[in-house]
Amino acid sequence: MKKVVAIYPGSFDPPTKGHLDLIERGSRIFDELVVAILRNPEKDPLFNIAERRRMLETMTEDFKNVSVDTFDGLMVDYAARIKATAVLRGIRAISDYEYELQMALMNRKLQPQLETVFMLPAEQYSYISSRLVREIAQLGGSIHDLVPEMVEQRLHEKLDPSLKFSEAKGKRS
Ligand code: PNS
Repeated sequence: MKKVVAIYPGSFDPPTKGHLDLIERGSRIFDELVVAILRNPEKDPLFNIAERRRMLETMTEDFKNVSVDTFDGLMVDYAARIKATAVLRGIRAISDYEYELQMALMNRKLQPQLETVFMLPAEQYSYISSRLVREIAQLGGSIHDLVPEMVEQRLHEKLDPSLKFSEAKGKRS
């Protein structure tokens, strides 16, 4: 039978526990799932593409049918290039629905063969967004429950580079 390859596109700046939850769900229903990070030179990201890629690769290393890639240009063109036939998107709340519906219908207009599949993250992740995680971390709040431990570490290093320096010298307190 034909294998279904799906892409899970997004900015992932940074990847959160909500993203990971959706990746896990997607990996159970698709034969292959490609987490596709948008390379968008117009934005001013907190983490560069290589950093986001490394974090996602580490987070997904136990999922044998999940890989991480980057793309630019139209998502539908990227999907066609890698022969993906489905796009996975998460809907956390009704407020996501309008934007996601518009994007899914526009993508369908551009590429009628590409099917968008919506999945719901676990309830405890339904309020998490990368934007809020960045804001909370920048303002010194706890992001422990919101992102995997390794991402929490990277965020702390990013916001306080001296931590990375101390760690390199084995002096983390
Ligand atoms: O993490 P995000 O910001 O919710 O992801 C949005 C993303 C990357 C899925 C969307 O912006 C996208 O697909 N961009 C690629 C350009 C494109 O295809 N635009 C037309 C969308 S209808």
